[in-house]
Amino acid sequence: MLRNICGTAYRSIFYQRKAYANSSAVLVGKLGFAHSTQPAVDSQGIETNRMSQVANGQTGLLPPPKGLVAPINVPQKLLMGPGPTNVSPRVQQASGLQLIGHMHAETFQIMDEIKAGMQYAFQTKNQWTLVISGPGHLGMEAVLVNLLEPGDKVLIGVNGLWGKRAVDLANRLGASPLALEQEAGKSLSLDEIEQGLSKHKPKVLFLVHSESSTGVMQPLVGVGDLCRKYDCLLVVDTVASLGGVPFFMDDWKIDAVYTGSQKVIGAPPGLAPISFGPRAVEAIKSRKSPVKSYLLNMNELTIQWQCGDPSIPRIYHHTPPVNLFYALREALAELTEEGLENVWKRHAEASARLHAGIRSLGLKLFVQNESDRLPTVTTILVPEGIDWKKVIQYLMEKHKIEIAGGLGPTVGKVFRIGVLGCNATPEKVDRVLQALKEGLEFAKLQGHL
Ligand SMILES: Cc1ncc(COP(=O)(O)O)c(C=O)c1O
Repeated sequence: MLRNICGTAYRSIFYQRKAYANSSAVLVGKLGFAHSTQPAVDSQGIETNRMSQVANGQTGLLPPPKGLVAPINVPQKLLMGPGPTNVSPRVQQASGLQLIGHMHAETFQIMDEIKAGMQYAFQTKNQWTLVISGPGHLGMEAVLVNLLEPGDKVLIGVNGLWGKRAVDLANRLGASPLALEQEAGKSLSLDEIEQGLSKHKPKVLFLVHSESSTGVMQPLVGVGDLCRKYDCLLVVDTVASLGGVPFFMDDWKIDAVYTGSQKVIGAPPGLAPISFGPRAVEAIKSRKSPVKSYLLNMNELTIQWQCGDPSIPRIYHHTPPVNLFYALREALAELTEEGLENVWKRHAEASARLHAGIRSLGLKLFVQNESDRLPTVTTILVPEGIDWKKVIQYLMEKHKIEIAGGLGPTVGKVFRIGVLGCNATPEKVDRVLQALKEGLEFAKLQGHL
């Protein structure tokens, strides 16, 4: 076998290795080689002298990071940007509970309760309702990687950054994305969607319900029927809206949806709840090629989440962030206790109060058409001559309040203010408005903090 690999050259290496029992042989060029001294190692594979040198401070061990000697510093801030939002004390407490194993019965019960809570939040009876261990982006990857195969056509509504991101992702997966473009600040009409579907006949239509980069909400009523008419699956991104506005997955005939834990739901970032309807499950099960991701393969992950027959035992797929499950479970418990309709109403009222306050400051909203405005994330035009960065900096430094600038097509043009989860209250809205008023005055004076 030695001869098969390297012939005589390899044999000569072999003999020299024997001669230098404790030294390394380094191949140089094709046939020749040099050798260098290899340090002796102990039974754990560590150089024999190293640990005594470490103890005597003689070796090149990197110094311990100084910052880690001090206690962790997490100041109180009011998060009024497009997310994440602050979490309630109950959610905060839950995430600090002691860890238990991901295959323990108690964790399975928490996962089942999350599943039921997400079915309620999505308004669906879908069995394949579960949570991806990762941020909203991974929810996007999960729907696309499971539903698309190389060459599949996917029509994507692009009126901001998130639609663009989906195009990028679909390209990476080897699918054929087609952008159904709309001006930033406007939603797509049913007619425009139907024209796209009839022209391209895609396998999947992807729409962003809550385009948080522009503050636009995409109306979804009637889109599911169009998708059935053109034999296409409807996928919706609800990362910045779910819980804050009415949403009915089953009634609106949506085939796959995902969201993020850190927005209206009010849990820490790092989880992406997701749901697949029967048509989407069928499409995944009848794929010609395997799903191009291990972590996101729904055929397997749904077993750990026991999304099918309860008599089929759960099988380990990966180790999920169990502490985040505690937090999400409690956030969903709060949502359930308050009642979805009341949470929608609270967000609508907070948004209306914010919009009225914006107008009374003499500012203008970026989204012209009132019915296109996303209640959870509001985009406000930066007034002429104002340095938007100064305003944002003022709010953070003077009030510890976060608001955001634009993103994607709105960079430099807007401020983005979110009323999400437990921050969708009149008191928080008034605080951000007061701070914004001061921030604008400060920026007008071109002051330095
Ligand atoms: C509509 C939308 N989709 C996707 C994402 C990505 O979520 P994440 O930052 O959790 O990956 C966001 C984040 O703001 C979003 O608003």
